[in-house]
Amino acid sequence: MNAPIKHTADATTVEEGLAIAEAQDKKFNSEMATETAMANTLLTPRFYTTDFEEMDAIDVSSVREDWDNLIDQMVRDPNKGHFKKNEDWDQVDWEGMEPELKKEFIDFLISSCTAEFSGCVLYKEMKRRGNNKDITQLFQLMARDEARHAGFINDALREAGLRVNLGFLTQKKKYTYFRPKFIYYATYLSEKIGYARYITIFRHLEANPEYRFHPIFKWFEEWCNDEFSHGEAFALLMKTDPKLTSGINVYWIKFFLTAVYATMYIRDHQRPAFHKALGVDPDWYAHEVFTKTSKLTEQIYPITLDIEHPRWQRNLERLQKANVDMVGATGINKLIAQVRAGWAFVLLYTIPTKKHATPKSVRLEPVY
Ligand SMILES: [Fe+2]
Ligand SMILES: [Fe+2]
Repeated sequence: MNAPIKHTADATTVEEGLAIAEAQDKKFNSEMATETAMANTLLTPRFYTTDFEEMDAIDVSSVREDWDNLIDQMVRDPNKGHFKKNEDWDQVDWEGMEPELKKEFIDFLISSCTAEFSGCVLYKEMKRRGNNKDITQLFQLMARDEARHAGFINDALREAGLRVNLGFLTQKKKYTYFRPKFIYYATYLSEKIGYARYITIFRHLEANPEYRFHPIFKWFEEWCNDEFSHGEAFALLMKTDPKLTSGINVYWIKFFLTAVYATMYIRDHQRPAFHKALGVDPDWYAHEVFTKTSKLTEQIYPITLDIEHPRWQRNLERLQKANVDMVGATGINKLIAQVRAGWAFVLLYTIPTKKHATPKSVRLEPVY
C-alpha cells in the first residue's frame, strides 16, 4: 500500500487536497483568520455560484487543438509537489516583524488564501455537477491547483499561529450568484491579473532580493504560471462563443475591467507598510500590473482601458480616498463619501476605450 499523502502540494486531485486540508482544520483552528476570510464586502474575496448546467453545455470543438494542448500541459502537472516548504524556505521572524507590516502582511495572506480557495470551490463544484468530459476535466485540474495554492498559504499562516479553516468557509461563507458569462469575465480577469501581480513582484524581488522579507515570494514564479494557464482556459471558453466578446457584452467587459482594476488599486493602497517593505510603490505597481494585464487580455477582449488617459489616475485616487473616508463614517458623511466614490467610478468607466482586432488564435505563453 502507498503511504497516505500528507501535503496538499502532492495531491493529484482536488478531493485529495481538500481531505488533507480538512484533517488539518480539525487539528488546528484560528478564529481570527477564518472570521477575516468570512467577510463579504466590496473589497474582500467572495465565493461564487453559477448556472452549472449552462456551463456544462459548452462545446469546445471550435478550439479543439488549443484546448487539447492546454489540457495536456495541465495533466503533465509540472508543479506537482512544488507548493510546500523546502530548504529554500527561510526562517521567518514573526516576533521581530514591525507590527504594522505584520498586520498588513497577515491580511494579505488571509485575503490571498480566501481568493485562491474561492476559485477552488467554484471549479470543484463545476466539476462535480458537470457531465461534459472536457469541462469537468478542466475544472478538476484548476481546482487541484487552487487547493494547493490555498494550502500553501495556510502553511505560511500556520507559522504566525493562524489558519483559514477551509472546510468551515465552504459550508458557511455566503455564495454570490453570477451568470456564467459574468463568471467568465470576472474569473478570466482575476486569473490574468493574478499572473501579472505575482510575476511583477517576483521579477522585482529577483532584481532586489534584499526586499524579500518572506520566503513565500520565492514560489511566485511557478505559482503565476498556474494562474496563467487557468486564464488561458477561460480565454478558450470565451472564444467558443463570439457573442461573449461582442455587441452589448463589450460594455460588460469594460465594466469588469474597470471594477477589477479599481478594486486592486484600493486594496493595495490599504497596505502601505507591506508595499514599503517590498520596496514597491503601489502606484507604480498598479500601473505595471494594469499594463501587463491589458496586453494579455488583448488575446480575447476587443477593448482595453486607456490607463494613460488623464482621467484614469486622478479618479483612481479619488475613488481610493472616498473609500478611506467611508470606513467608520456614519450618516451624511458616509453618504457623501459613497456619492464621491460612485462619481469617481462613473468618470473612470466613461473614459473612451482603446479598440483593436483580436487574434485568430487565442493562445499565449507567459513571457513576463
Ligand atoms: Fe491560484
Ligand atoms: Fe487560478
